Amino acid sequence: MNLIKGFMLIELPTIQDGIDGTISIVESGKHIPFNVKRVYYVYNLANQVAIRGKHAHKKLEQVLFCISGSFKLNLDDGENQMEFLVYKPNVGVYLGVDLWHSMTDFSSNCIFFVLASDYYNESDYIRNYSEFINYVTVKNLKTHSNHYNHGLIQ
Ligand code: TYD
Repeated sequence: MNLIKGFMLIELPTIQDGIDGTISIVESGKHIPFNVKRVYYVYNLANQVAIRGKHAHKKLEQVLFCISGSFKLNLDDGENQMEFLVYKPNVGVYLGVDLWHSMTDFSSNCIFFVLASDYYNESDYIRNYSEFINYVTVKNLKTHSNHYNHGLIQ
């Protein structure tokens, strides 16, 4: 069981072509749990101070692939935090809604690309950490009281 809500790893089908390389395949709606509307990729990260992310999304879902090098991913769902190294080109990191994420410690050759469920929309971002904590706390309280009102919690 994942401690962090809205996070999972997605392993892609991969074909090893021996000395001719390796192919990893992503098919929208099949290996990725949403229809991909946008792809973006990040590179030129070759410095020790680069930090990306530092935000959460209200509706956007994403899957992130580190296709070259490595970086450290920090996740926080408002209750639990975790940190791990992303380095396998055939394993994607699914980032669901309400998940504060930041990336640091990029290796010199790091390139990551992201599949996203929607077009870029700045109003979907929560870029302030205290605002994020308030947002998830209120949302969790609402979910809890709905369960209570429907008799799911006695
Ligand atoms: P941001 O999503 O914060 O990048 P990251 O999560 O990799 O740190 O975006 C950084 C800037 O780039 C911000 O000003 C918005 C802009 N941007 C777009 O215009 N379109 C996009 O698809 C993305 C991902 C970012």
